Amino acid sequence: MKPVAFHNTVLRDGHQSMAATRMKTSQMLSAAPILDAMGFRMLETWGGATIDTSLRFLGEQPFDRVRALRKVAPKTPQGMLLRGQNIVQYKCFPDDVVELFVKCTAEAGIEVFRIFDGLNDPRNLAPAIAAVKKAGKTARGEICYTTSPAHTPEAFLRFSEELKDMGCVEIGIKDMSGVITPRVAAELVAGIIKRTGLPVTLHSHETAGLAAASYVAATDAGATAIETSISPFANGTSQPDTLRMLALLDGNPRQPSFDRKKLAELREYFTKVYKELDAFTSPANETVDSDTLVYQVPGGMLSNFRVQLKDMGMSERIDEVLAEIPRVRECLGWAPLVTPISQIVGTQAMLNVKFGRWKNFSPAAMDIALGNYGRTPAPVDREVLALAEKNTGKSPMSSRPADSLKPNVDNLRKQLAEKGLPTTDEAVVLFAMFPMEYEKLIKKPEAIQDPAAAAKPSATGPASAPPAPRPTGRHQRLQITVNGRRAEALVEEIP
Ligand code: CO
Repeated sequence: MKPVAFHNTVLRDGHQSMAATRMKTSQMLSAAPILDAMGFRMLETWGGATIDTSLRFLGEQPFDRVRALRKVAPKTPQGMLLRGQNIVQYKCFPDDVVELFVKCTAEAGIEVFRIFDGLNDPRNLAPAIAAVKKAGKTARGEICYTTSPAHTPEAFLRFSEELKDMGCVEIGIKDMSGVITPRVAAELVAGIIKRTGLPVTLHSHETAGLAAASYVAATDAGATAIETSISPFANGTSQPDTLRMLALLDGNPRQPSFDRKKLAELREYFTKVYKELDAFTSPANETVDSDTLVYQVPGGMLSNFRVQLKDMGMSERIDEVLAEIPRVRECLGWAPLVTPISQIVGTQAMLNVKFGRWKNFSPAAMDIALGNYGRTPAPVDREVLALAEKNTGKSPMSSRPADSLKPNVDNLRKQLAEKGLPTTDEAVVLFAMFPMEYEKLIKKPEAIQDPAAAAKPSATGPASAPPAPRPTGRHQRLQITVNGRRAEALVEEIP
């Protein structure tokens, strides 16, 4: 029996989940050769929120990290998380931008592309998968796991077959909220292997305390790999710790062999880094919180939600709002609670409670209803859809969202030239997603500051002001209307 392989996420999801994606390349370089020698099947190093924070807060050219890590850790393939047609942003990009992004990412040194779409709409994945294949790299199609009447085991299994048909050579189960149970994990892993014959990886989060047990169940069901991190960038809202996972597999015929002394060394090293990132860590991320199972909303969303409700003076109505979330989801075709849809659904639930159901229909929620994010898992409620059509004067989108977008690479390159900025492929794709941040990085790198790091209270000085809310990997501002006034809601990404 082949041992189950471990992928390590400490250089991406580990610090995205535990330290707001603030680990710098310089903090990774001395650990990378040790990680490289351990025998992990893959090191997840890039994608998700890393590109955004590199540009916005760290003043780093994101592609340089991939190249630097490849130099010091050449043996283990590097992997990234790619948000399908949204690349690493929230809006939809034209196919030529997606293709160019994959091409230069592959050239920089990424071998494995974990490609997902929050709605599991295959049309939002096809161009990225094709581009990865063209670049000769590994396309791992991700199934976003969530619970709803529309998300049946059969629906997930059928989706895994579609991913294979589109050219994926591996399948991942992406349980971003950490709600998959051991039994379901085993059922899906065995089912996907049976239907597709492809290697299956389970990716989960320990948020609700289920991940490690689900990893054991997935291992017993024949999963090729599971994804772990290194403490203290592990457990809690992150992946289970590697040493802990090894201990859980003691005596299991599929237990892999790792140098536990070296793992202890890594843990010591990352403990030091964790302390350096003190301004971005929080005890809330370190605990196991089964609230997420009670309320069926991701942990990150819940904690953020409490802050948002408080800002709106609605703290005492949290139970009503949480009860409204599944109703909103049902009306919006059981859209999954994954970024950015989770924030849109949460905000709409708040508006429904405050003003009455659908009396104040947010434009972003209308976009979901009209299919502008992709096909919803179940049909949208007829009355809600009619309301969205009436309010916008638009009919639902039946084509693929990116079909309405014209090629844009040439135009972006022209804009870069006019601004006197580099016109390389890397410049084009970064500028496409983060125009202001990219321009600032090139022209005024010294002006890039991390407001959260600057606001960190001094360790020696008196703690005069109450601590500011902890920063997160990725804030998104949503425009909402409260009491007839436009307002902004600050929301957080779920890794
Ligand atoms: Co994750």
